[in-house]
Amino acid sequence: PRAGWAIGADVVVVGSGVAGLTAALRCAAAGRRTVIVTKARLDAGSTRWAQGGIAAALGEGDTPGQHLDDTLVAGAGLCDEAAVRALVTEGPDAVRRLIGAGARFDTGASGEIALTREGGHHRRRIAHAGGDATGAEISRALVAAVREAGIETVENALVLDLLKDGRGHAAGVSLHVMGEGRHDGVGAVHAPAVVLATGGMGQVFSATTNPAVSTGDGVALALRAGAEVSDLEFVQFHPTVLFLGAGSEGQQPLVSEAVRGEGAHLVDADGVRFMLGQHELAELAPRDIVAKAIMRRMRERGADCMYLDARHFGARMWAERFPTILAACRAHGIDPVTGPVPVAPAAHYASGGVRTDLAGRTTVPGLYACGEVACTGVHGANRLASNSLLEGLVFAERIAAGIARAPRRAAAPVPAPGGGRTVPLPPPEARYAIQRTMTAGAGVLRSAGSLARAAAELAALSAASDGVGKPAEPGVEAWETANLHLVARVLVAAALRRTETRGCHWREDHPDRDDEVWRRHLVVALRPTAE
Ligand code: SIN
Repeated sequence: PRAGWAIGADVVVVGSGVAGLTAALRCAAAGRRTVIVTKARLDAGSTRWAQGGIAAALGEGDTPGQHLDDTLVAGAGLCDEAAVRALVTEGPDAVRRLIGAGARFDTGASGEIALTREGGHHRRRIAHAGGDATGAEISRALVAAVREAGIETVENALVLDLLKDGRGHAAGVSLHVMGEGRHDGVGAVHAPAVVLATGGMGQVFSATTNPAVSTGDGVALALRAGAEVSDLEFVQFHPTVLFLGAGSEGQQPLVSEAVRGEGAHLVDADGVRFMLGQHELAELAPRDIVAKAIMRRMRERGADCMYLDARHFGARMWAERFPTILAACRAHGIDPVTGPVPVAPAAHYASGGVRTDLAGRTTVPGLYACGEVACTGVHGANRLASNSLLEGLVFAERIAAGIARAPRRAAAPVPAPGGGRTVPLPPPEARYAIQRTMTAGAGVLRSAGSLARAAAELAALSAASDGVGKPAEPGVEAWETANLHLVARVLVAAALRRTETRGCHWREDHPDRDDEVWRRHLVVALRPTAE
């Protein structure tokens, strides 16, 4: 094994979406030596794919209280109200600070921030940039700010495990870096504060809106470190993902809710609007309701997809307001100006994750989490549209404020890894088996039978890999597959236990919400595995 390299810092931030970059900028501004490590390039995560926008009570007549009400309704009884209150009250200023940091949002005729609507919001509250390229603009602005601030970054760095000192306090992370010059191979960043901002786990399913890097690495790391993880059963399926044919796998193009926010209709193959009469907000009902209605109609009709009809926008509005979606449709031979757009639900967002308090602290001292990897309590059983970028911003700022207030701690010396450890890794081709198993057994519609089959298939993959310890300088693919496998098993176990339907967890065999038994969270902590 190669000798390891090591960097020392006050804070190591793992991940570089809106949450990670915001946390890093704030920690650095507070004078903490900060290092960002990220699995691909700085702008490769989910943030840059976000279309619709960022929700905040910025419009005339809107208030944090109304934003709170909509968030609680979407969360179906499982939001932590204090966390939601922090989100909605600190949100507007956090967005203004983002603008101050250089993000350019779309504006109206008199220069005010232009706001649109999305599912579950009772008013126009979603700020957007570049029409439907909000995440790309936020990512651009934050990456530029990080470069300007001279924050040390290590790209192509796959995080392996949390390092702890003798008292169980976080002491850094071990990494496998590929092709980054002086930081190549297995190494470590030693720091007494570790901020996980690794994003989601959409790649655990066959079809997802998430990019290839969203493989649940942060949740898997936290589980191996013994941190509590909560609400993994609440996977949000976005109702309107461009349907590219049965069996399409990997990242699929999103068709933003903002398209419905601007007046697009959901119709079946006969052009019938099937959301009318199902919910007072029709096409703009919370997204679990829309996803379920689409699935039901698909079943009734024996169809693979439904359609989004926005021909009435006309060519100019499509080009100006939704250029990204227009280009994605046309790249696949679909013209939304002249015909309806085929759509179907696909995995989109993990409402659960690594459990934190309001300061972003996990149950392992010194380990923080923010953004999609975290479960702060703001999403409950179903995230309200466009609350995710906002959560990343607000809770990253909270974490940085806590770190800045605390006395500076020296990292306890931890030996640099000398080539990694030996771990049982599933064979790389297991990734596809995991994804198909999860889509078939733990997708939009679940039952005891489908989940038990998924659990058995995932267990069979464990048996296949048990004892096959690989030399522990695993390639990215093998390690990602191990992470997908671990989070899939925990997710399926939680979905099997929750014998009710709530938010985005839809059990066909338990179709009702059961507040008496299930108005609670499923929290999991594994025994930590030794480094
Ligand atoms: C969208 O633009 O529809 C996605 C918004 C979100 O997931 O919050």
